[in-house]
Amino acid sequence: MNQGWTLYISIFTIVNILACLWLLWWTAKNRSTKAEDQDTGHVWDEDIRELNRPLPKWWLNLFYITIVFSFAYLVLYPGLGSFAGTKKWTSQEQHDAEAKAAEEKIAPIFAKFRAQPLADLVHDADAQRLGASVFANNCATCHGSDAKGAKGYPNLTDNDWLWGGEPDTVLTTILDGRQAAMPAMGAVLGDEGVAATAVYVQSLAGQGVDDALASKGQAHFQTICAACHGPEGKGNPMLGAPNLTDNIWLYGSDFDTIATTIRNGRNGQMPAHRPLIGEDRVRLAAAWVLAQSQAQPNAEAH
Ligand code: HEC
Ligand code: HEC
Repeated sequence: MNQGWTLYISIFTIVNILACLWLLWWTAKNRSTKAEDQDTGHVWDEDIRELNRPLPKWWLNLFYITIVFSFAYLVLYPGLGSFAGTKKWTSQEQHDAEAKAAEEKIAPIFAKFRAQPLADLVHDADAQRLGASVFANNCATCHGSDAKGAKGYPNLTDNDWLWGGEPDTVLTTILDGRQAAMPAMGAVLGDEGVAATAVYVQSLAGQGVDDALASKGQAHFQTICAACHGPEGKGNPMLGAPNLTDNIWLYGSDFDTIATTIRNGRNGQMPAHRPLIGEDRVRLAAAWVLAQSQAQPNAEAH
């Protein structure tokens, strides 16, 4: 906050409080206590008269105390622009201290699982319970609360893996993140090339297509796509290049979506979670994810 604002806020705040003080003093002063001076002239039910009497002293004093309190508060705590207050309190520091205390309390619970291999955690009920909550808090925003994903966010329960499904590979994915790089091919292929290649991709996935167009697309595919997706389009987990022959799609299988993917490229990013939540929590989330996929009927297929 710059000095101009600090001055503006400080003056505005203090003048406001002083104005309250003046208002209290001004309305309370010179009030007669004699009953006949206070009669407003309003009468109800023939004998109930409305008076206008000063506020009781104890009540007024409460107001004065709040004003003293507000000045003490403004000296101790930040309130006047960039003035930090003599206690140097900040919400950030209080949050950090509380988070640290909570972390110290919870760390032993996570540490219990640190020495256990990932494969064991998949079958450990306590680890699964914790893993589910780590997932719900940190992963569900992108992958969905049931881990079934959405467009651009992979389904983690289907035993089909972009980057590989071995327990250690899944762990690496979550710890260090993944950055997929499918380059934009619109300029290289031109509109017709994009269309033909998209049709060929549809044929790879077993969709009924125009064979002549598909074979034109196949030539393009072999020259520029096979390097990453493989000559048969079965993908490459080293690059996160998806298998294009199954019926599992990250972005979509209709012609328009495939053509958009080819024309503009795709850059799905899985953020590295080691710096965000630490290795203990990541291992529990990984164990939970692996348990979801192993519960699938095709679990041995990967
Ligand atoms: C440099 C490597 C590379 C090349 C070359 C490449 N791709 Fe990709 N492709 C990828 C990666 C990586 C992804 C995953 C993108 C993501 O996860 O965001 C991908 C995704 C796709 C998808 C989306 C699949 C889905 O599940 O939604 C399609 C379709 C596709 N590529 C087709 C092609 C075609 C057709 C070509 C050739 C014109 C091609 N790719 C060239 C690496 C490549
Ligand atoms: C900001 C969104 C986001 C968050 C948060 C996130 N992910 Fe991801 N995750 C992605 C995206 C996007 C991909 C796909 C990257 C790509 O296109 O290759 C991915 C990929 C993955 C993969 C690889 C899937 C495969 O098929 O190989 C795993 C496993 C995974 N995430 C697990 C997790 C877990 C566990 C968490 C929580 C600790 C998490 N993700 C949090 C966006 C997210």
